[in-house]
Amino acid sequence: MYIINELTQNYESDLISFHVPGHKNGKLYNKLGYKEILDKIYNLDSTEIIGTDNLHCPEGIIKNSQEKASNIFNSDNTYFLVNGSTCGIYASIMSVCGENDKLIVNRDCHKSVINISTLYGINLVYVKTKTLNNLSTVVCVDDFIEKINKNLDAKAVFLTYPTYYGTTYNIKKIIDYAHSKNMVAIVDEAHGAHLELSNDLPKSSIKLGADLIIQSTHKTLPSFTQSSMLHIKGNRINKEKLESYLSTFQSSSPSYILMSSLEIAVDIYEKYGKNLMNELLNNISFLKEELKSFDRIKITNNFDKTKIFISVDYIKGYDLEEKLRYKYNIQVELSNYKGVLLVCSIGNNKKDFIHLKNSLIDIVNSNQQNVNLSDEIYYKKIILQNNIPNQKISHKQAFYSDKKSVKIENSLGKICGEHVIPYPPGISIISPGEIINEEIINKIIFYRENNLNITGMKDPKLEFIQIVDI
Ligand SMILES: Cc1ncc(COP(=O)(O)O)c(C=O)c1O
Repeated sequence: MYIINELTQNYESDLISFHVPGHKNGKLYNKLGYKEILDKIYNLDSTEIIGTDNLHCPEGIIKNSQEKASNIFNSDNTYFLVNGSTCGIYASIMSVCGENDKLIVNRDCHKSVINISTLYGINLVYVKTKTLNNLSTVVCVDDFIEKINKNLDAKAVFLTYPTYYGTTYNIKKIIDYAHSKNMVAIVDEAHGAHLELSNDLPKSSIKLGADLIIQSTHKTLPSFTQSSMLHIKGNRINKEKLESYLSTFQSSSPSYILMSSLEIAVDIYEKYGKNLMNELLNNISFLKEELKSFDRIKITNNFDKTKIFISVDYIKGYDLEEKLRYKYNIQVELSNYKGVLLVCSIGNNKKDFIHLKNSLIDIVNSNQQNVNLSDEIYYKKIILQNNIPNQKISHKQAFYSDKKSVKIENSLGKICGEHVIPYPPGISIISPGEIINEEIINKIIFYRENNLNITGMKDPKLEFIQIVDI
């Protein structure tokens, strides 16, 4: 068996997880006494029979469980999602925007926002982003407000908060301003389900006035991959409409295993969450303190402190990721040219951080120096640029048009016919309908030459790009 064998090997090798899901290879469940329930989880798998309720119109156990989650997360209503935050984003957008409506959104939004808007002809008004610390892209609050002022007919604003790298910003100012212009505020909090566990973390947008908040519980809290939650706050949302879209986008056979894992995550959050988060933040401080004297190791850990970005001078992030995995049995969340991102959760313990610290010191002491500095200059020039390509036709029109393939090098000025999404972090650099410019061409070539992953493009070798055939 292919999948089972690989996953078993990871588990049995005691791989140290600094990546999602938040339960860290199930270790947290064992530690807190949930093993007995989870050992029989396959016996609990079910469908809609007498007594098991129905996610699509909950009136019994699922309703009760969602209500408990709503209390704990301080929402007015909470929906369990079994198709990830992706389906929550689809339903949220569709519940407030119709065809040709405008949605104002940060350019570095998740691909699900662009996909749903492309299919249904919602006009995305992008707000440009800037790169902080050579690392995470983020919107500038004033730019967002300026876009709102220029698009007062928009139905809603859509904000990613925090970013994959844990960066936050004054989202409340944008939400309040959007509300003052009668717009709904949807927040993609896929990376922020844990935020309310400590006052040392940024506040969740549930507390900051957002109307619809989508959280990937599985990423930073202990639930199974693909299980998420959608929260409503306030009275700007038409619940019936939202629920009918949730029903459209979710499986007609919602997994009871995923719903059970959400219930366990809520239980852990309520009973142990704050203490464990306190321990985690102490362990992160310990790591930073211990590595402080190593000049070559740089740790970026602002905003959401559970996200740690580590770079080691003279070692490319991609190589650092492989070294940590193959030599030290540590798996990080992602790597980029500069370093590696660690997603730490309440499932990590002190032992994980001690091993990480020792491994990094060992790496530095073995004195690897493999970065060609001209490469770095190129990286800064190419990858850190975030200009938004001009749009010639709508995403929808381009998506449904005939396409043809041209060599990347010959695509300047053509209308892009596909998404180009470097992965990670899964953010589109150009979408159907936008004009291919030199910056995009250079980026794709950089990704190709460095053997990096781009999704969305038909040609896996990244030599050809689909353009609109007009
Ligand atoms: C910012 C952001 N939003 C939404 C999603 C989608 O979340 P899910 O995997 O739960 O569908 C992701 C996934 O990586 C993400 O990074």
